Amino acid sequence: MKRVITYGTFDLIHYGHINLLERAKKMGDYLIVGLSTNQFNEEKNKKCYFSFEERKRLLEAIRYVDLVIPEECWEQKRSDIEMYHVDTFVMGDDWSGKFDDLKDICDVVYLSRTPEISTTKIKKELKGKE
Ligand code: CTP
Repeated sequence: MKRVITYGTFDLIHYGHINLLERAKKMGDYLIVGLSTNQFNEEKNKKCYFSFEERKRLLEAIRYVDLVIPEECWEQKRSDIEMYHVDTFVMGDDWSGKFDDLKDICDVVYLSRTPEISTTKIKKELKGKE
């Protein structure tokens, strides 16, 4: 069985996320999502609308996602890949080149982002309509 892993915040899930998850799942048989915890987001100065538990529940309801694990720090990727016997690490190309150091233990693939949509954009546009 080929295992794929990706990471992200996945707040206010939108079609850009779905496109990413669909393509990631097609790269193997089992898709793991490392989901940023509330505390990790705070460290990144990222404020989420939904809590970790809510974001996790939403991701688990998506047919492409097999397992959601917490992402608590930048450094855990290598140990997750080893622990879950991951074959392919996938991220959107906004991260292009940033995780190439993992190439010694798995394939590293950057998928093109879906244009013109992001959680930040949704939040900004809704704020403008208040
Ligand atoms: N992603 C994508 N296409 C988009 C938005 C996100 O492919 N239009 C991918 C990202 O590249 C990443 C994953 O989805 O691999 C999770 O991204 P995340 O940062 O949670 O989503 P964004 O919408 O980019 O959120 P933000 O605006 O808060 O950065």
